[in-house]
Amino acid sequence: MADLSVKYAGMDFKNFLVGGSGPSYDTVEGCKAGADAGLAAFVLKSMTPAFLGRAGYQHAVPRFKTVNRLQPYRRWQPELGEENMDILSAGEVGSVWGEEGYIEFAHKVRQAVGHRAKIGISTFGIEFGPPRDFPPEEVYYRHFEVMKEILANGDADFIEMPLANICFDLMDMPKVIKKAKSMFAVPVTIKLSDPFFFPVVERAKLMQNAGVDALTLFDCSMVLDFDIETKQVPFRDTWHYAASGSTIPLVNACIAQCRLAGVTLPITGSFGVWEWPHVIKLIMSGADAVQMCRKVMVRGFGVVPEWLETINKWLDDHNIKSITELKGSILERLDARYRRMVREEPLERGGVPSLKPVVDLARCQGCTHWCLPSCGYFAIRAKDGKIEIDEGKCAVCGTCEGTCPFGVISYQPRTPQETEAFRQRYRR
Ligand SMILES: Cc1cc2nc3c(=O)[nH]c(=O)nc-3n(C[C@H](O)[C@H](O)[C@H](O)COP(=O)(O)O)c2cc1C
Ligand code: SF4
Ligand code: SF4
Repeated sequence: MADLSVKYAGMDFKNFLVGGSGPSYDTVEGCKAGADAGLAAFVLKSMTPAFLGRAGYQHAVPRFKTVNRLQPYRRWQPELGEENMDILSAGEVGSVWGEEGYIEFAHKVRQAVGHRAKIGISTFGIEFGPPRDFPPEEVYYRHFEVMKEILANGDADFIEMPLANICFDLMDMPKVIKKAKSMFAVPVTIKLSDPFFFPVVERAKLMQNAGVDALTLFDCSMVLDFDIETKQVPFRDTWHYAASGSTIPLVNACIAQCRLAGVTLPITGSFGVWEWPHVIKLIMSGADAVQMCRKVMVRGFGVVPEWLETINKWLDDHNIKSITELKGSILERLDARYRRMVREEPLERGGVPSLKPVVDLARCQGCTHWCLPSCGYFAIRAKDGKIEIDEGKCAVCGTCEGTCPFGVISYQPRTPQETEAFRQRYRR
């Protein structure tokens, strides 16, 4: 059994899995289920700013929407379909408990959970709601008063401030962080958003210099989608925020870039964790812990023990004694100067492509449905109920490998003899 525990911003987490703020942690039952499932920590659903009133969460419009289920692939590999979906989320205004009820709610959560899991309490980004005539940081300061009471009751272990807000002037954030740090003894963490819109490393450094204790990368990103006939967005009246199951490589890159640029803060990776290998990838990219929200929303808490067991076994199989050994282990493979991958396989050797395409004929269904149209070099043709790739035309571009749902096409290095034969045959 590997050691799964991590130190996070001075806290002892029994493992690296944190429940991300959302509906799962807006009920005492949900929080208890998260702790029972083995989460090291979870963040309660963010407090609803009082100026929104109860109407803030009593809207009937669905709060999230599932898109991009990759239906075509389902036909071929049923087991792929369910996991490969993205969820758009919007209009989720905050906890159903409001500011007042949040204190009692946190107390009941602590009673139900005890200290089996660390409990985070959360303010809210302030972009929702009607225009108001007070400075945006006032919402944080109001929430700080509520948090003070919760902390005085011993009902929370850390604070998370989501920054899901592109209107709020980021340069004001250090001031908010300093105020939080002067008020609270517990760790104060920031959850950044919108990795597509902001220079992440600069934002991370701004937060680090302001004295925050840890960062969560990321909450979500603002996206725009709409019906081309009606111009309706999925949520009727707003921009919407999305976190996609396909965005883990983006998060990996952002975390790795932060690490390469000297961000030393503890980081929690988030924003699209759908499979257990995502957890490993985020940690290898430099994260200390991982948050997941929607996976649990969609699949239930059963994934928590399942992933912990699977990851434990994976670590054992790789003779890794502690999860912390993995942290940042991919960074040595990155070229720090240019912040990009080092190419391991040369494109060509002496004018000949260094790799050759290989078709596993035993597994090829001969459908030609996926690979054939995907070849922009017209190198693939149907032959005897299978396919054949014309080596002379093939540019080893890599497209067909990814399109065949059966994994029939791969690439292998050419031997020196094959390289010579290729050169002779095609006079390169
Ligand atoms: C329906 C829904 C409600 C959410 N509510 C909150 C919230 O109140 N506060 C917050 O900080 N993040 C909230 N989030 C964001 C999640 O905590 C998480 O950062 C985001 O969904 C990305 O992680 P994931 O890909 O694991 O879901 C919410 C997400 C969803 C889908
Ligand atoms: S390589 Fe894949 S996509 Fe192409 S014919 Fe064979 S099974 Fe179909
Ligand atoms: S690797 Fe590219 S060029 Fe070669 S057969 Fe596949 S799609 Fe065509």
